[in-house]
Amino acid sequence: MRVLSGMQPSGTLHIGNYLGALKQWVEAQSVDAFYCVVDLHALTLEIEPETLRSQSFDLIATFLAAGLDPDVCTIFLQSEVPYHAQMNWLLECVATYGELSRMTQFKEKSSRKTGYRVGLLTYPVLMAGDILLYETTEVPVGDDQRQHLELTRVLAERFNNRYGSTFVVPVGVQPKVAARVMDLQEPTRKMSKSLSSPLGSIYVTDSASAIDKKIKKAVTDTDNEVRYDWEHKPGISNLLDIYSSFSNEAPQVVAERYTRYGDLKSDLSALVIESLAPLRTRHHELMADPAELRAVVTNGAVKASEVAGSVYRRAAHAVGLI
Ligand code: TYM
Repeated sequence: MRVLSGMQPSGTLHIGNYLGALKQWVEAQSVDAFYCVVDLHALTLEIEPETLRSQSFDLIATFLAAGLDPDVCTIFLQSEVPYHAQMNWLLECVATYGELSRMTQFKEKSSRKTGYRVGLLTYPVLMAGDILLYETTEVPVGDDQRQHLELTRVLAERFNNRYGSTFVVPVGVQPKVAARVMDLQEPTRKMSKSLSSPLGSIYVTDSASAIDKKIKKAVTDTDNEVRYDWEHKPGISNLLDIYSSFSNEAPQVVAERYTRYGDLKSDLSALVIESLAPLRTRHHELMADPAELRAVVTNGAVKASEVAGSVYRRAAHAVGLI
């Protein structure tokens, strides 16, 4: 099994990113796991250069603080392995404009602004390259990446059919619960770094009092029955998903223990605070040691380049480059 996944350095992670992806990454780490900060992807939207740099370091610190071990898996910056940009071009010449313009995330993000960047349209191709460069079999991601994963598979198969067997065709892997953590204030919308209301997202480095406040104020319905039922009770079901992901229990089992929303919220608040406390402390320590973070990704880029280089050369040869 070969694992690869990536995250954008677009600000502090929320618990959706953590439960939907990072927590799974930690569980799946091995010598055959590659995790990257996809800094090239962050350029698809307006971002200050200094902000991009600092958020990239912050994200590496978060990876390590969450439990990724650079002696076990490979942690790197996408931009430091040049094969990602090179592979992107080969795959752009296999993808069609029609299939890219149909991507849901593109449609959402491009509709918010006139004059969006071409990179916003071609972004899923760069992502496909990230995955295909590592002969990846499994990609642990949240539910919102399913469509991009499907496109990756389509492009890999199309390339293999046209140029001969070159790429391993990967599958996306979602966690059983919390694959789509919803906004605490609007539980029919996913928790998101860019669109959430101030109380809608819990960030992994939030203080105990901020976490408590956000959970206590989370929107629920009025019938006051604790039941796991996404269709009729999205607010409570979201809280149960978060609970069950942190406690590794089934959400239905958690629901059975509670009759009142207030009790569920108090216990959930204590559980989230306790679960994230070590991450928060470790993140703080790591941010004070930029040389260590630099060393981790420098070393990671060397290891990643070995694998990515050989796959890139195979693909370049297949299409007819000398
Ligand atoms: P990004 O940076 O938006 O999100 C990082 C990871 O967090 C998951 N996620 C969620 N999971 C559950 N609930 C939520 N509310 C939630 N919000 C986000 C995402 O599914 C993702 O797993 N395109 C990717 C980055 C990427 C990538 C890759 C991923 C680039 N190349 C190669 C895998 C493999 C993205 O923008 O994720």
